[in-house]
Amino acid sequence: MKFTFYGHATFMIETDGKKILFDPFITGNPSAAGKVNADDIQADYILVSHGHGDHVGDLVSIAKRTNAKVISAYEIISWAEKQGVTNFHPMNFGSFNFEIGKVRYVPAMHSSVLPDGTYGGNPGGFVVYGKEKTFYYSGDTSLTSEFQMFQYYGSMDFAILPVGGNFTMDAADAVIAAKMINCKKIIGVHFDTFGYIKIDHEAAIAMFAKEGIELILPEVGKTIEL
Ligand code: NI
Ligand code: MN
Repeated sequence: MKFTFYGHATFMIETDGKKILFDPFITGNPSAAGKVNADDIQADYILVSHGHGDHVGDLVSIAKRTNAKVISAYEIISWAEKQGVTNFHPMNFGSFNFEIGKVRYVPAMHSSVLPDGTYGGNPGGFVVYGKEKTFYYSGDTSLTSEFQMFQYYGSMDFAILPVGGNFTMDAADAVIAAKMINCKKIIGVHFDTFGYIKIDHEAAIAMFAKEGIELILPEVGKTIEL
């Protein structure tokens, strides 16, 4: 299973021969500039956590070019459909069995409006019960009591959590989240892209290590094996 980081909260997971792209934001993403080209990205699925521009910026163009199946909140799918996206699967909080495995769309504590002002529904995250591994991407969220529900969701092989603070959890909050979801391998996202979310990498990694949890802060454009 491979994880490729495109900067901010945009990443690709390749598993069981399928490419799953999350929250595509490359054009105008300062951390992707000069390192990633949106036109080069292939995808079989695109999972979108919420409607903010830093999560849907390149959704329509990549979905149209690749014909990837877009999975997101009903309201975000309706917005994408109006712009010509034809392969999609709308959800609300609940689960559905896809070819990539069961996907559980879970609440995030955040907000969700699309770049043109269209209501984006409730913001969320995804638990993917894949054939190789089970993992969780929280989307943008604060520390929330929703994490208590993970005692019923099965064990997570790894989780992708925001660590930049200000708009989401910071590293200290994400340590608590990792403990609440009982996951020992965390990939941090939503950091360093903008001034408000610049972080001290070594301090963040040390905070997790102190609790026996691995924090990976991925490099833009690089692929890691999980
Ligand atoms: Ni957001
Ligand atoms: Mn965001």
